[in-house]
Amino acid sequence: MRKRFLPLLAAALALASPAARADDGDVATELVDAFNKLFGVHPGFRANHAKGVVATGSFVGAPGAAALSKAAIFSGARIPVTVRFSDSTGLPNLPDGSGDANPHGLSVKYALPDGGETDMVTNSLPFFPVRTGEEFLALLTAIAASPKDAPKPTPLETFIASHPAVPKSLGALRTPDSFAHEQYNGVNAFVLVNKAGARQAVRYVFAPEETVHLEKEAAAAKPADFLVDDMAARLKQGPVTFTLKAQLAEPGDDVLDGSTPWPHERKLVTLGTLTIDTLSPDSLEAQKKLLFLPGALTDGIEPSGDPLVDVRDGAYAVSFSRRNP
Ligand code: HEM
Repeated sequence: MRKRFLPLLAAALALASPAARADDGDVATELVDAFNKLFGVHPGFRANHAKGVVATGSFVGAPGAAALSKAAIFSGARIPVTVRFSDSTGLPNLPDGSGDANPHGLSVKYALPDGGETDMVTNSLPFFPVRTGEEFLALLTAIAASPKDAPKPTPLETFIASHPAVPKSLGALRTPDSFAHEQYNGVNAFVLVNKAGARQAVRYVFAPEETVHLEKEAAAAKPADFLVDDMAARLKQGPVTFTLKAQLAEPGDDVLDGSTPWPHERKLVTLGTLTIDTLSPDSLEAQKKLLFLPGALTDGIEPSGDPLVDVRDGAYAVSFSRRNP
């Protein structure tokens, strides 16, 4: 492994809590193995969300953000960001209009004034299909064991029968007409902590200027790289913006279960504006070196205890080390 990746990987492993680390490490590796089995191994590419496009811009915190969190990204100062939009699956050449490319992803890396960084890794799922890494591994294993000609009930049908959130979560997905026209959700909860020490569990939402979804047939008829090409063309015309919002948990809301949405009437507070203005000149090379980690937090943003975050950090680090051997 080349030297420059070691600090990132060490950081990723340190992010997992000591109690969770040993078990999560095994599940994380098995999850990456399961993605590799489903999609094949494509050297240099991510085990999931393999196809993507990198751009840069900035984030400016809204006036109400600092009341919720003392994090430097919410101070109101302009914070440089690197973002990556992506398609699901480990297939680097998947057509963007394929149903399998859902959910699409938006990852944001904030460059902190002290030289550090913090990440948000979001996608277009309204909520996750399962609660834990072990359940996700069981789902991926059931998918792999259920080809079209599998005898009924297939392992996937059996899994879904006992996990009703799976079809509800995946059934909500639609292909956007642009990466700029999708809402991306944090799914997992984090805890914002302000200067006075007040704590508030939240889930992030990146809200686009408008949401535009395509019918299935229209999506399938689009050119293979239409989302990636659209972002390149769009940024030549002007910036793409999203409003970062925090959905506030109320007492009794489950902060440990990303497969349970909180009630729609929960308050949404605007945290700031993400402005994306420049396509990375060499997106393919840039994305290889980038590692976005949902658990890469900063002072003022803390884990909620949602078990998916640790297992995701572990799996992303394993995938990163395989794509940068
Ligand atoms: C146990 C659950 C999950 C597992 C095992 C998992 C696994 C992975 C893996 C292995 C990668 C490739 C990482 C890399 O090579 O850098 C990845 C990327 C990604 N995942 Fe997940 N994931 C999970 C849940 C989620 C959730 C809940 C979201 C969003 C709310 C999400 C959004 C993304 C995005 C946007 C990327 C692309 C990151 C980038 O642009 O570099 N994943 N995931």
